[in-house]
Amino acid sequence: MPAGDSFYIATPIFYVNDVPHIGHAYTEVAADVLARWHRQSGDDTWLLTGTDEHGQKILRTAVANGVTPKEWADKLVNSAWKPLLETINIANDDFIRTTDERHEYGVKLFLEKLYDAGFIYQGEFEGHYCVGCEEYKQPGDLIEGTGEYAGQQVCAIHSKPVEVLKETNYFFRMSDFEQRLLDLYETNPNFIQPESVRNEVIQFVKQGLRDLSISRSSFDWGIQIPWDDKHVVYVWFEALLNYITAIGYGVDNEQFNRRWPATQLVGKDIARFHAVIWPAMLMAADLPVPTRVFGHGWLLVGGEKMSKSKLTGIAPSDITDTFGVDAFRYYFMSAINFGQDGSFSWEDLSARYQAELANGFGNLASRVIAMINRYYDGVVPGPAAYSDADVHVQLVVADAVTEADAAMQRLAIHEALAAIWTIVDELNGYITLQEPWVLAKKDETRERLGTVLYTAAEGLRSLAVLLSPVIPDATTKLWAALGIDGDLSDQTITDAGIWGRLIAGTQMGTLEALFPRIEQP
Ligand code: ME8
Ligand code: MG
Repeated sequence: MPAGDSFYIATPIFYVNDVPHIGHAYTEVAADVLARWHRQSGDDTWLLTGTDEHGQKILRTAVANGVTPKEWADKLVNSAWKPLLETINIANDDFIRTTDERHEYGVKLFLEKLYDAGFIYQGEFEGHYCVGCEEYKQPGDLIEGTGEYAGQQVCAIHSKPVEVLKETNYFFRMSDFEQRLLDLYETNPNFIQPESVRNEVIQFVKQGLRDLSISRSSFDWGIQIPWDDKHVVYVWFEALLNYITAIGYGVDNEQFNRRWPATQLVGKDIARFHAVIWPAMLMAADLPVPTRVFGHGWLLVGGEKMSKSKLTGIAPSDITDTFGVDAFRYYFMSAINFGQDGSFSWEDLSARYQAELANGFGNLASRVIAMINRYYDGVVPGPAAYSDADVHVQLVVADAVTEADAAMQRLAIHEALAAIWTIVDELNGYITLQEPWVLAKKDETRERLGTVLYTAAEGLRSLAVLLSPVIPDATTKLWAALGIDGDLSDQTITDAGIWGRLIAGTQMGTLEALFPRIEQP
């Protein structure tokens, strides 16, 4: 990819009714890995995340806790949602809150534009609403309740009764965009990914789109409709706009044009909002639709989606406190095919930590650095003539870089990691076969020893660069131990694949265990 391409990536903005769990952290890490990869490729990268703070769900939580909704949101943002980003080492460029002044301004501007263009009208809304989903429900979305809700219609997702609404609301002419949306999915097959989510969305739109109620008048926690202060904007209609209000929509055209459109990562639970309502809104405003909407899978607990409302959430710090931040990031990115559901288990995490991070990568790095220290006083030896085995290492590295980059471009993070891991496996096999500790015993094999250790160290240089988007802490330590001039963050992905950048004579440092043995939690 040529340097300087724009890469804007956004996560959903999360509801502040409760604290984050590993499902939210999963989306954050995936977006951060992709953003770091693009930064490392020299792209003009921007990572946005934030919080969704209006609507009935937050209002009710605040009331139940005896505070105002803004007080509640402030408390959760400062005590839980921003600290999450530290806990899992997210290098976001911005954090938007829907209570930000900039957001309110942009939302009002957008609404006025659509109103003036005739895409908004007043009408009577009669139907069901699930506050847990913050979504209008069709009869087909409801199921028979059980237990305390027996005999009632409940939301299929929250298993709780829905509200019956009868309000005068403003509507967005979403039905006008049915054909244009279908054309978009058809002509740009990558617009919605993966395939399973794409098919579901197409199926949904083909059944016919209704106009969307975009305002509520029975409570006031939200952004006022600019021409009618008795209404607040429907929380989803407003929240979706964060992706453009955060980059200066209507205020800073230079920033807006530089960033938009975005790659949007969301969980598949909210893919429909992002792949149907959101592009329809943008079309109505004559703005480009997102580059793509990727609906990733769910982290499951006991076969069900981990969720706040079902109290099955695991706090990210429960994992990072024991295994560290890098292991958290590596585990979720490598163990689950990005796009599919995945079950989390402590046993699986623990086993992969030991096999892949401690024994596979960490031990490789420690051994190579330790041998260069022992046999060469820490000064990188120069390579002599390369054998077939050495050349094979070089080929594996070059292929891994090409494959990993191609996989990252199509958001196949797990495939990128698998490609990078071929270098780890190759180097471990190489060292076992070349037996540098045997070569070190005789003067005649000194030159060969130098070539073998140079080859191994040069492989580590590539690994440090390629793995830095996923395990930034460990690779920073490895980089320091390798002693190479310049910051790791200035190394490009392309450089990682060019053999021979490590200069003979470089003074190395020492390296502590990158992934120490862990007492079973
Ligand atoms: O829906 N597995 O916010 P939310 C994987 N505010 N990812 C999960 C997950 C799980 N078990 N649980 C949650 C909202 N997530 C709206 C979004 S955007 C304009 C507004 C992640 O707090 C995943 O990204 O309910 C999912 O889509 C998101 O959290 C839902 O977060
Ligand atoms: Mg949710």
